[in-house]
Amino acid sequence: MEKLQGKKALITGGSRGLGKAVALALSKEGVQVAITGRNESSLQETVKEIGNHATYSVFDISNQQDVKNSLEKLQVDFGPIDILINNAGISAFGGFLEMTEKEWLDIIHTNLLGVYYVSKAILPSMVERKCGDIINVSSTAGLKGGASTSAYSVSKAGLISLSESLMFEMRKHNVRVTTLTPSTIASDMSVKDLKITDGNPEKVLQPEDFAELVLDILKLNKRALLANASLWSTNP
Ligand SMILES: NC(=O)c1ccc[n+]([C@@H]2O[C@H](COP(=O)([O-])OP(=O)(O)OC[C@H]3O[C@@H](n4cnc5c(N)ncnc54)[C@H](OP(=O)(O)O)[C@@H]3O)[C@@H](O)[C@H]2O)c1
Repeated sequence: MEKLQGKKALITGGSRGLGKAVALALSKEGVQVAITGRNESSLQETVKEIGNHATYSVFDISNQQDVKNSLEKLQVDFGPIDILINNAGISAFGGFLEMTEKEWLDIIHTNLLGVYYVSKAILPSMVERKCGDIINVSSTAGLKGGASTSAYSVSKAGLISLSESLMFEMRKHNVRVTTLTPSTIASDMSVKDLKITDGNPEKVLQPEDFAELVLDILKLNKRALLANASLWSTNP
């Protein structure tokens, strides 16, 4: 089993939901965490809650120059990243003809190109140091299209392909890349935005369940790599 203590992790979208739960869980394991998002006050609140010298960086992952500049600075101030959780994402459901081009493309720019920009900024140091873990948060929506999910499904299916390709390419550098395709988990996205669940903790997956899975994956012996996994509620 790998020890996580002393490692440094970057969690995109770490201010709320799944990302926040992962940041809290990693910090409890002695990992130094940096979280990102667009809303600075929300990042400040979460960093305070995490404690343990956690830090944050404010940028929009869909803006390539913003990502490049912010992550160059972060890697100088915070240090090289051992664990990257590509978690930040947005969603909106709607008919293909009804959604505006902007809505549709924003989802692709954030969920797919955002992961490309962030990974491009972080991977060189992992490859150089011949170690690292990247966990990409896709979705069951990326495994299958749906009548009102074209943009979200395309973004998450593209992410599965990107992540799987990186897994094959990076393992020879001892960098492990895992693709996760969780089903519905109680968060702002699922409860408030999409309204696809009431988030009942007796039945519906909670962000803490997702964080537990992430810790287990990262703790695998470094000779072992989990390529992909789907997490489901047992009986929602
Ligand atoms: N919840 C589910 O049921 C579910 C299921 C499967 C997969 N997922 C995936 O899991 C990930 C996390 O979802 P969640 O439910 O935790 O969502 P959430 O509660 O809406 O949180 C999203 C996080 O991403 C950040 N973010 C969004 N757009 C961003 C951008 N352009 N640049 C930087 N940060 C951005 C948000 O911070 P700011 O708003 O401050 O930017 C926030 O921290 C997403 O990729 C989602 O697609 C979720």
